[in-house]
Amino acid sequence: MLLLGIETSCDDTATAVVRDARDVLANVSTNQDEFHARYGGIVPEIASRRHASLLSAAVDDALARAGLALGDLDGIAVTAGPGLIGSLVVGVATAKALAFASGKPLYAVNHLHGHLFAAFLERAIEPPYPFLALLVSGGHSQLVEVESALELRVIATTRDDAAGEAFDKTARLLGLPFPGGPALEALARDGDPAAIAFPRYRPEPGALDLSFSGLKTSVRYFLDSPAARDVTPADVAASFQAAVVDVLIDRVRRALDRRAYNAIVLSGGVAANAALATRCMALGEARGIPAYVPERRFCTDNAAMIAAAADRRRAAGTSDPLALTANPNLPF
Ligand code: KG4
Ligand code: ZN
Repeated sequence: MLLLGIETSCDDTATAVVRDARDVLANVSTNQDEFHARYGGIVPEIASRRHASLLSAAVDDALARAGLALGDLDGIAVTAGPGLIGSLVVGVATAKALAFASGKPLYAVNHLHGHLFAAFLERAIEPPYPFLALLVSGGHSQLVEVESALELRVIATTRDDAAGEAFDKTARLLGLPFPGGPALEALARDGDPAAIAFPRYRPEPGALDLSFSGLKTSVRYFLDSPAARDVTPADVAASFQAAVVDVLIDRVRRALDRRAYNAIVLSGGVAANAALATRCMALGEARGIPAYVPERRFCTDNAAMIAAAADRRRAAGTSDPLALTANPNLPF
């Protein structure tokens, strides 16, 4: 089954062609960082305008790289939410037009559902249900129990900032360029993770909720304090990163204590963080279950994961009408 994927929920204009939810025949992504960098964050109006000017060429590019024509596809998949409304609308309108013109079925995909299965792209492994997913991106931080391809339950969320958002905001405090996550990780490589004992949010025993705003605030106070003169920016970055990773790993550990899972699956942009991936793999090993981390290009937003998630809907026999609308607050 050959599906075209379209992803425009935030600031990446992405298209892909995926076969059988696994083989990525084309994966195209135009990142808009240079247009948003000077504002220190994503400007929704700029993002939607860039999507509108880039998307049609990105569709042609994905089809050309896959060596296919529109008529060869078995369906069109698109992110319908959650995300920025102006950005989502561009993807959804384009997908509807392509589905109408080709007469192929249209599949609306929840962006988070896409992230959950990114670890299985280009890998000869079937998702080992039930698995525990740690979904950490710029907009979300969740633990999700995945019972089957379409059956999932969110068992933990953040009380305030998402993990990626905490990376971005802390990177900004350190004067690093946007997006902050990769820049902060690079700086942290030269620092001492034990240099500063930043706080780790701990809910009552057994509880799973996450929180990062206190950590971010304590980095801000630290940077304004005299103690900041005794350490390097790399030490601050490494100590902050260690605190985020500790909190995430502690919550995964607590979830594993509650129930038996067949795997830990990491996903979302923050899954690209090597310190987090390494700790996840070690935890899996200690518990005797595999931990799957997506290839780096499938951690951050991409359209291959959207096509793969749509294939799971297709297999269940569902598709969507051309009256589909984008929903910025689409629930999981
Ligand atoms: O999944 P994603 O591309 O977009 C959303 O759906 O939000 O995630 C983007 C987030 C950003 O906050 C970015 O700073 C973070 O993922 N990120 C990282 C790394 N690479 C991306 N955070 C920590 N370490 C990284 N290497
Ligand atoms: Zn995402």
